Amino acid sequence: MNSFGRFFRVHIFGESHGNGVGVCIDGCPEGIPLSADDFVSDLVRRKSGARGTTPRIENDMPEILSGIYNGYTTGAPVSILFRNENTRSSDYERFTAMPRPGHADFSGRIRYNGFNDPRGGGHFSGRVTLGIVSAGVIAKKTVSPVNIEAVLVKVGGSTDIQSKIEEVLSENDSAGGLIHCRISGLRAGIGNPFFDSVESVLAHILFSIPGVKGVEFGAGFAAAEMKGSEHNDPFISPTGETLTNNAGGINGGISNGNDIKINIAVKPTSSIGREQHTFNFETRKMDVLKAEGRHDACIALRIPVIVEAAAAIALADLMSAKK
Ligand SMILES: Cc1cc2nc3c(=O)[nH]c(=O)nc-3n(C[C@H](O)[C@H](O)[C@H](O)COP(=O)(O)O)c2cc1C
Repeated sequence: MNSFGRFFRVHIFGESHGNGVGVCIDGCPEGIPLSADDFVSDLVRRKSGARGTTPRIENDMPEILSGIYNGYTTGAPVSILFRNENTRSSDYERFTAMPRPGHADFSGRIRYNGFNDPRGGGHFSGRVTLGIVSAGVIAKKTVSPVNIEAVLVKVGGSTDIQSKIEEVLSENDSAGGLIHCRISGLRAGIGNPFFDSVESVLAHILFSIPGVKGVEFGAGFAAAEMKGSEHNDPFISPTGETLTNNAGGINGGISNGNDIKINIAVKPTSSIGREQHTFNFETRKMDVLKAEGRHDACIALRIPVIVEAAAAIALADLMSAKK
């Protein structure tokens, strides 16, 4: 569904080529200083414009509709709207009959019995993450002084990000990416096992970001190849500090006071300007599709700030639950 969280509750809405996208945050604590300027730096980090991102440029100006008075949150729901201004829906007309391999054209149509809005990917578009980033700006303030930092470390398996981007652009192809996220300053004792463990809640929201296909904590999948003597993190201080951090800062679903370390795998963009086989639902025959139009060649370039926002929302909710 489109709501996340129990206490810091985020509802996102909108479609890529509809009137707009946005978010409503319920359970937002009162008294947080907040103005439209606070959103600028994170919204700019999510924006397209860099090499390897879509040529579709939107203003992304937040219209704060409710929940702020005299520069502070009031405790009532905060609603934020972003109007869509730069749409070109004709690029997407073919994808209803000929679904893009890797995208949600086929699965979305089946799930919503053909009533879904296909323009620009509709509600499956990365544009809907504007709501997540905006809620993240507020969530980051509520979890302060906890610090959350996500960085793109590899594209297409290479640390030479720019060269990899140029390579796939020259081939009309796309590339995936690996993002590292580190959460520091989170005290021990946050998390509500079993089902609201720190891993469960973080993974839930991180996997909701379109294009995210893998999430691992600490040593992650490498743990399956380690011995206990290698994987265990020896304690070195009375506050629970550990020598290594293979657990990624979480034991038993509860924060242990060390940094939370997360790796996030982002897939290569599915819309590529190369011929790919697909089924044509109009002719009922196999067909060939080149998904031309305005697309990010590497969506991972734009995802670190969304990861930070998602992590902040999850922590804001977990920390509210603790209170
Ligand atoms: C910021 C952002 C931008 C994106 N841009 C594109 C794009 O230009 N073209 C595309 O095919 N997919 C793009 N995506 C990914 C699709 O939204 C996503 O692949 C699709 O909804 C299918 O979901 P899945 O990949 O999680 O299975 C983007 C995702 C994000 C988060």
